[in-house]
Amino acid sequence: MPDTTDQRIAFITGASRGIGRAIATRLAADGRCVVLCSRSEAPLNDLKAEIEANGGSASVRACDISDSASFAKAIEDTFSEFGRLDILVNNAGITRDNLLLRMSDEEWDDVINTNLRSVFVACRAAARPMMKGRFGRIVNIASTSGLVGNTGQANYAAAKSALTGFTKSVARELGSKNITANVIAPGFINTDMTKNLPEQVIEHVKGLVSTKRLGEPEDIAAAVAYVTSDDAGFLTGQTIAVDGGMTMC
Ligand code: NAI
Repeated sequence: MPDTTDQRIAFITGASRGIGRAIATRLAADGRCVVLCSRSEAPLNDLKAEIEANGGSASVRACDISDSASFAKAIEDTFSEFGRLDILVNNAGITRDNLLLRMSDEEWDDVINTNLRSVFVACRAAARPMMKGRFGRIVNIASTSGLVGNTGQANYAAAKSALTGFTKSVARELGSKNITANVIAPGFINTDMTKNLPEQVIEHVKGLVSTKRLGEPEDIAAAVAYVTSDDAGFLTGQTIAVDGGMTMC
């Protein structure tokens, strides 16, 4: 195993694919030791091997982030393994879309537990290790749906919007310990989450985006790389939309 003594330790959820995979790949390329988390272990092991083949450091912690006890343990175990935890990227998320009148309690609860409660659980578990290290960079991945709402996404928009108030509170509580907390709100990004959208929706979205293209996972990873860098110590409590200008006003 490579020597990680001088590397920042970065825990990334939803790292098996899409945006999380791009974030992990980018942070590893930037010299972070990345701890890869998502539900199943096999794709994380593949990514770990790829990162190591490129000279980076990675470790795998598979768990279900909607199971608070096992998610908190994954973070605590990371601290035990490396003796520190510097960066936390809460990226994993799900959609269970439905119109308000048809939305079930289960669809509501699944999305709130996975997209919101898990972020609280992770930040609570990471706060003490970060305080001990007198350094921390927390990034919570929200969505432009949380900024402007979206038909069929009352549950998702509620969870993503709540991340803004939650993150500002964390930023206020932990700022004096050199721990920052920010939200990145992606617009439409080319991933499994969006690949089944009808072509007319994609074309409509492209019309709303100044850059006239969907985003790529690497666009989000680049923003996360900066916000989690040592240079970004004066940036906290912010929600940054990375959406090709879709929600600017
Ligand atoms: P994706 O569906 O491609 O990947 C989601 C990742 O989260 C996977 O690694 C999956 O295994 C993991 N995950 C889901 N539920 C989990 C659970 N209970 N426990 C552990 N891991 C779990 O999603 P994508 O597109 O990469 O999205 C990543 C984040 O970005 C999500 O929070 C999503 O809401 C957000 N986002 C995505 C947008 C897009 O256009 N793709 C737009 C705005 C926000």
